[in-house]
Amino acid sequence: MTTTEIFDKLWKDYSILNPSVEKIHKLFTEEGNTIINDHIALRTFDDPRISIDVLAKVFIENGYILAGSYNFPAKKLFAKHFEIQGDAKAPRVFISQLILNEFSPFLQTTIRNSIERISIETLNSSELIFNGQALGTPDFEIYEKLRNESEYAAWVYAFSFRANHFTVSINHLNSVKGNEKVNELLKSHGFSLNNSGGEIKGSEAEFLKQSSTLADRIPHSFIQGSFQIPSCYYEFAERFKDEKGNYFSGFIAESADKIFESTDFRK
Ligand code: NI
Repeated sequence: MTTTEIFDKLWKDYSILNPSVEKIHKLFTEEGNTIINDHIALRTFDDPRISIDVLAKVFIENGYILAGSYNFPAKKLFAKHFEIQGDAKAPRVFISQLILNEFSPFLQTTIRNSIERISIETLNSSELIFNGQALGTPDFEIYEKLRNESEYAAWVYAFSFRANHFTVSINHLNSVKGNEKVNELLKSHGFSLNNSGGEIKGSEAEFLKQSSTLADRIPHSFIQGSFQIPSCYYEFAERFKDEKGNYFSGFIAESADKIFESTDFRK
């Protein structure tokens, strides 16, 4: 599978899950922009059968290398980012994992039981990231209970390992310049932005500014039937040159910490 095929497949699954994504994509392309994807993000747990390194395999096989590691102590998460160095248009891949042993026995058992249900064939294939229901059909009561401990755990329990967001590279837009203007445009078209820590996370001094929509609530299948829950979101990133004159290619943990909240359950 080529890199293009991987991202096309992930995009198809992701964009179906969030009606706003296609609308925003169209909003930019209709103004004559070519959309370059800055990065995608995948979420998982630190169980060795499905950890970051397992999900990263298909990207490593396509020339990606480890380019950064990040800690999120408050959310009990660890993440790595992978990229193809020297290829400015290859999307970065950001993969995070929840540190299971820092949670309750209930959460650990629930997640490990879900992993048990994944077939060996799926575990050993790249299908894991393309199969939105790899962890099986969720139970709504368990989903609600998981949310009390970790919104992240509940999200992965419901949606498995599919792409959680794609990211518009603001640097590559022609019709609208800068994160502030992008946000204004989105809001004027009725899209809601994640406001946790302010609409814009990061700064030019940190070489990265990011904003994101709030995940759309969509009907999702549970054992008990269909329930409206937050799905995926769209992110917007503007990168700046570092001291050496190179565009910063990493991530800012403090900003990413707030971006994670784009999928939080909201009343
Ligand atoms: Ni992101």
